[in-house]
Formats: sequence, C-alpha cells, structure tokens
Amino acid sequence: MPDNATDSFFGYLNWLFNPFHGLKTTEVYDLIGTSSLTEHALYLNLGYWREANTIDEASEALPLLVAKRGGMGPGDTVLDCGYGFGDQDILWARNMNPGKIIGLNITKSQVERARKNVADAGLEKSVDLREGSATEMLIENESVDLVVSVESAFHYRTREDFFREALRVLRPGGRLVTADIVPTENSDNLFRRMEQWLSWNLVAGKFNIPQENYYLIPSYRHKLSKAGFVHIDITSIRDDVYAPLHEYLSKNRKFVGKMHPLAKIMAELTLNRSADSVYAGLDYILSYAEKP
Ligand SMILES: C[S@@+](CC[C@H](N)C(=O)[O-])C[C@H]1O[C@@H](n2cnc3c(N)ncnc32)[C@H](O)[C@@H]1O
Repeated sequence: MPDNATDSFFGYLNWLFNPFHGLKTTEVYDLIGTSSLTEHALYLNLGYWREANTIDEASEALPLLVAKRGGMGPGDTVLDCGYGFGDQDILWARNMNPGKIIGLNITKSQVERARKNVADAGLEKSVDLREGSATEMLIENESVDLVVSVESAFHYRTREDFFREALRVLRPGGRLVTADIVPTENSDNLFRRMEQWLSWNLVAGKFNIPQENYYLIPSYRHKLSKAGFVHIDITSIRDDVYAPLHEYLSKNRKFVGKMHPLAKIMAELTLNRSADSVYAGLDYILSYAEKP
C-alpha cells in the first residue's frame, strides 16, 4: 500500500473502531476528504428528503430550505458558517442572488477546494470563502443581514459562543438560521433509552460534538433568547432527514460502495438495523431567530 493509503487505512481504523481515540473536527474532515456521497457536488450533509428522490437533490434541498427560511434575497450580505466545499454558496449565489456571501470554515483542506470550486463557477466576486471559526468571527459588528449554518453548529466549541458572535455581526433585524443536530428527549423505556444513548454517543464521539452542545430544543430556544435573539422558531425536521436517507441508502447500496472500505463496514452494520433504532438519539432541527 502506498504511504497515504496506509495512513488513511489506519486513520479510518482508529476513527471508526477505536472507542478511546477521538479526532479533532478538522482531522475528521481531513480524513473524510472529498468522499461525499453526492454525485455532482461535494455536499457533506444528510439532506432534506421531503420532495427529493436522489441524494444530490436532498443535499441541495437542505441549504435551499435554510436560505428560504432566512428569506435570503438580492442585496443581502450573508455569512455562511461551516460551508464544507462551498457547494451551498454556489447554489445560493445562483438561485437566491444575494449581494455577497462570506464563508467561515476551520478545515483548511476544504477551504482550498471550496475556493477553487467558486473560482471555477466564476463567482469569486460575490462569494468570499475564508478560513476561520464560527465562534471567533473576524467580521465587523452589525455588517451582516443573514447568518446561516448548514449541519455544522453542533460542532462549534461552543454553539452558545456562535450565537453570541452571530448576534454581534448581524444588523438590527438580521436573521440567524441553522439546520442542526440535537439529542432527542429521553424515553421512559429503559431499552429505548439505551438505544438513544448509543445512537447519540456514537455520532458525538465520531464527529467530535462537545458535551456542552448536548441539549434539547427548549434549551436551544432558551440559549438563543439569552444571547439576545427574538422571534425564535425551532421545528424538528427529523422525519424528513434520517429515515428517508436510511431507506435510500438501503435501496441504493452503490453509494455505500463509494465509501472507504472501513467506512463501508460501518455503513453496512448500520443499514442492517432499522432507522428508528440507528437514529433513536438524534433530532434534526431548523431554527430561526432575529436580532431585535
Ligand atoms: C457536516 S459538514 C457540513 C458542510 C456543509 N455545510 C454541507 O452541508 O455540505 C460540517 C462543516 O462544519 C465545519 N466546521 C466545524 N467546526 C467549525 C467552526 N468552529 N467554524 C467554522 N466551521 C466549522 C467543518 O469544517 C465542515 O465543513
């Protein structure tokens, strides 16, 4: 095996099967690299499946849902936190025509590729993708109309620091929209509770979700309000995310075939169980809030 293949093999082995070895967020995404399940882009989200028939459609439907919820439109200055490979920014620039999109992402390898994608799309003038953290934004006070974060805020250390920063950079009347992962409420049934615990901890361990971000929707609302946001609205969209993705991947095993051999083993183990059990501990929310 060439050196980088050996590194990747042992990297995956450690990441997926060693319960005592956690990776930093950037190490996780460096390891995953460009192995997105989408065929025409490099999305890394689970997708919004209400009207989608393919993984590419679902992966685009999620950022479109976020943009629509935030009323993204011409003239808006948008701040996108956790932009992955920038496909969502290209999608928004083409479909919603905002004045400017600034992006922040901590994974250097993604930043480089995302910038190239934006340049190839001829959108460098309106899309400015930077390396930087959502919890410490090098962005001026009150300079942004809309802050968005698609399937990333659960990573932030901490999500509350992100809320504080988002409020600072938003203009009065500005909006914050996240598509985010939170735990489900503990069941009274002991067996179900174990399933929930396993499901959350597996994902939180592999994807480096800090313990500080472990809270339910009512606390999410409370923390947004404590940060200074108003008109807060949080909806669970979990039924349009996990189960349809699980069903799609079960029926279309070719996508599992695209994965790293070790990730494939993990995926096969997962797909042989029911979605209800695999995702028992995971809620998925669309959250909206405004700066007064
Ligand atoms: C699951 S991926 C989602 C990427 C993209 N939004 C998509 O839908 O394809 C999570 C992203 O969050 C980024 N991220 C994690 N922590 C971050 C932080 N503190 N600040 C900015 N980006 C962060 C990761 O680098 C990665 O790009």
